[in-house]
Amino acid sequence: MSRAVDSPRVLNIADLRRLAKRRLPRAVFDYIDGGADAELTLRENCRVFDDVTFRPRNAVAIPRCDLRVSVLGSRLELPLLLGPVGSSRMFYPRGEEAAAHAAGAAGTAYVLSTLSGCRLEDVKAASSGPVWYQLYLVGGRDVGTAAIERARTAGFSALVVTIDTAVSGLRERDVRNGTKELLSGHPWTMLPFLPQFLARPRWLAGFLSDGGLMAFPNVVLPGEGPMAYADVAAALEQSTASWPDLRWIREVWKGPLVIKGVLTGDDARRALDEGAGAIVVSNHGGRQLDGVSATLRALPEVVTAANGQAEILLDGGIRRGSDIAKALCLGARAVLAGRAYAYGLGAGGEAGVARAIQILRADLVRILKLLGCASVAELDRSYLDVPSAWVADAPRRTSVGAG
Ligand SMILES: Cc1cc2nc3c(=O)[nH]c(=O)nc-3n(C[C@H](O)[C@H](O)[C@H](O)COP(=O)(O)O)c2cc1C
Repeated sequence: MSRAVDSPRVLNIADLRRLAKRRLPRAVFDYIDGGADAELTLRENCRVFDDVTFRPRNAVAIPRCDLRVSVLGSRLELPLLLGPVGSSRMFYPRGEEAAAHAAGAAGTAYVLSTLSGCRLEDVKAASSGPVWYQLYLVGGRDVGTAAIERARTAGFSALVVTIDTAVSGLRERDVRNGTKELLSGHPWTMLPFLPQFLARPRWLAGFLSDGGLMAFPNVVLPGEGPMAYADVAAALEQSTASWPDLRWIREVWKGPLVIKGVLTGDDARRALDEGAGAIVVSNHGGRQLDGVSATLRALPEVVTAANGQAEILLDGGIRRGSDIAKALCLGARAVLAGRAYAYGLGAGGEAGVARAIQILRADLVRILKLLGCASVAELDRSYLDVPSAWVADAPRRTSVGAG
């Protein structure tokens, strides 16, 4: 592990965020860090974990903790996956491959975004662990079908369909920073960014040596080749996945299907009807509809609605191992990290991602020992005090595909 991200310089995810802010140009850092509109949901995703407190069982000796969990048939060493984060290659050279490699080395899964800068085959080859493909329908059904077929051939083990991007959220920081102009790829529109780039020479050297502005090699447009790095917002606007799309996706992809972006019991039941093996309770990290519930708050309703028929995952606001423990107590089988590892990637590439995972893992072991709980499989609501308003929604833990 690189000393730059080692203890005591980096003790928690906030430290990685601080280092990422120092290494990345402002426009790139804000793209990771920011949320939609007033960023209410972005903040609430993190804050809501404070509403829930632990009920430890003290005087219990726990010499060893078992963090292992099975997710969609894959055995993971800890209940934390790396979620899809588009444009990771902007944060660090070959960013998606670096993150996938770190995930595999830690014994967990990596989810590759459609909007990534590395070829999906290279990302799969970089990881010794399971890799899932997250689908946006950028470029339409034929382009999506071709990507799904490539992912299957390359050995991706699950397909994640994100359903919360009817349009792109208004990320005010990106608008103010002129990110759209920056990504247009025209040298003259990039000129105003020169000072912030030159102020980040280490990032700039990496960016240039990695080929400069990336394209999207997994979105191959007929007769054109890989989609150019257009504005991400514009790309998202043509990429809405609706329930009817799930039908044809199911025809093309026969493997495990994950629906990401569920916040209500109704959508959870619909996802089950469409054949989801797993559901991700997610609000896109507060980057889409601002003002929706924090994901931890939405979790009990979704767990109840799924009624053990799908594995429930959660993302949003995971910054400490205690956040993971609380989500598991409320019925999540595992969680996905977004910014927690993206900050690590921006701070120090693969070493930063590895450090993010190591921090969260060490946190989780410590929390389990302090709770008097030997295994993540045993975490349930009895280890938590939750606000009374939540109680009606909160079931016992699901036992789907136990292991
Ligand atoms: C910079 C960035 C890019 C993202 N890109 C994608 C994406 O391409 N596809 C997707 O489904 N979710 C994307 N997300 C959402 C994450 O997968 C995840 O839902 C969110 O980051 C979780 O919140 P957290 O960052 O608080 O952990 C992105 C999030 C960030 C921060």
